[in-house]
Order: sequence, then structure tokens, then C-alpha cells
Amino acid sequence: MWETFFGLKKTPFSDRPDGKLLFASAAWQQVNERLEFLAQHHGVGLLTGEVGAGKSTAARVFTATLNPNLYKILYIHFSSGTALDLLRQIALTLDLEPAHYRGDLVRQIAEAVVRLNQSKKQHPLLIVDEAHLLPHAALEQLPLLLNFDMDSARYLSLLLIGQPLLRRTLTLQLHEALRQRVAVHYHLEGLTREELDAYLAQQLKAAGVTAALFTDTARQTIYQATKGIPRKVNKLAVAALRLAAQRQAESVDEAVALEATKEVLL
Ligand SMILES: Nc1ncnc2c1ncn2[C@@H]1O[C@H](COP(=O)(O)OP(=O)(O)OP(=O)(O)O)[C@@H](O)[C@H]1O
Ligand SMILES: [Mg+2]
Repeated sequence: MWETFFGLKKTPFSDRPDGKLLFASAAWQQVNERLEFLAQHHGVGLLTGEVGAGKSTAARVFTATLNPNLYKILYIHFSSGTALDLLRQIALTLDLEPAHYRGDLVRQIAEAVVRLNQSKKQHPLLIVDEAHLLPHAALEQLPLLLNFDMDSARYLSLLLIGQPLLRRTLTLQLHEALRQRVAVHYHLEGLTREELDAYLAQQLKAAGVTAALFTDTARQTIYQATKGIPRKVNKLAVAALRLAAQRQAESVDEAVALEATKEVLL
């Protein structure tokens, strides 16, 4: 086992790290500030970023900090389907028996959302993850849910999460109503070069090793291959450590890092 070879007590670079192991990069803090603003002021937020940049993780970790008496998180991971399917999914997350027709569904959702705010004093935050996959017709339904009442109170907050394509989609005239309501937007990029060093060290330390297991040039290679995207960094770091252990090398050097980049599909 490569972990024991390096004296690691746990496997570092996990796919689903616990809260303590999340790395608070500058971008991560920017995302959090915006999500906090959204939770405080209500409205629409947009979180975009490359695949594996940490968008879903950021939303998951942030929503876990919200007081469940005050916020109801409606999380939708929409991968395919029609506009009607999206509304049905939203109705289901509100524990409703979805109505048959679109107009009824919208009314039903609206009523449930107002009820949550007024009777339970809970503000619903609808999170639509992978929103770049929403067909235009589905995306067009969302503004209907944001201003269904005559008063100007914001009863529902919405966080759209998706790949960079989502930003472009929202620039279309068709989605102006939604675009105009976006109060906060952040585009999550990978870790910087310095942050990558700190992240590698943090992960190794959490697994019980303080020795530098990656040489300077190996870290540079990892940065170039991953652009600091956490999912890619994790994958490549593990592959490189495994290769180094196989060769009984005490650390990952540039040659091992390069070879690992060829082995993993980034
Ligand atoms: N700040 C962080 N610290 C440590 N690990 C992180 C951090 N952010 C993301 N990760 C890790 O990177 C991986 C990818 O994160 P996540 O799934 O949130 O990305 P995503 O942007 O939602 O990707 P996709 O576009 O595929 O949905 C996960 O394994 C996650 O644990
Ligand atoms: Mg995701």
C-alpha cells in the first residue's frame, strides 16, 4: 500500500473530504461571501466554474452552515427532462403531490413557498445544480417562481450552479428576466500556484506526514496539468504517490509527476 510506504495514517486527497479538510482558497472565500449575501438578502445567485472546481462542494458546505429553522434547502440536480419535469421535481422537494398542468404546478409551488415563509418563517433556497444542462424552456420557468405575488417580497431564493456554458446561456435575450435578477455571481477557478502548494501540504499533514512528498518541480508539473482544479489535483496527486511508492522513491519528483499525468485521465 502506497499509504503505508509514505507513513500516511489516512488516505489523503479524498473525493469527499470532511469539513476540516476543505481548503479555504481565496476563491472559496469569495464564493462563501456571495452565498452569505444571498442567504441574507435573498434573490438569485449564479455560481459557475470549470468541471471539478468545487462548485457543488461549496454549495453543500455552505448550506450545511445555515440554520434549518430559518432556511429550507431545496436541492435539485437536474440532468435531463422537460420544463414540466423541472417544476415537478421542485414540487417534490416541497413535499407536494405535483399537479398535472404547468399553470397548476406553478401555483402550487408558489403557494407552498409563501406558506413556508409566512407560517413556518422558513426561507426556501432552491439550488439547481448542473443548471447548464437545463433546456431553455426549463430555465424560462424559473422567473415565474420568483415573482408570482403582487407584493415585492422575495419568498424564494435561487442558486444556479453550472459549467461556464451557463453564463453564456444567460446572456441570451430569452433569459433576460432571469439574468436581470441575478444579484451575485462568481466564477470559481482552480487553486493558484501558491494555494496548490499549501493544499498538498495540508492534505499530507492531515494524513500525518509533514515531509515534503512532492518536489518543487513535481508541484509545478501538477499545477500545469491541473490548473489547480481540485478534482484533478486529487486524482493526479494520488496517482503520483502510488507510482513513487511502486518505485520505492521517497518523494514524487518531476519525472514521476509527468508519468502520472499520462496515466490518469484528467
Ligand atoms: N476547497 C476544497 N478543498 C478540498 N477539496 C475540494 C475543495 N473544493 C473541491 N474539492 C474536491 O474537488 C472535487 C470536485 O468538487 P465538486 O464536485 O464540488 O466540483 P464541481 O465544480 O461541482 O464539479 P462538476 O462540474 O463536475 O459538478 C471533490 O472531490 C471535492 O471534494
Ligand atoms: Mg458539481
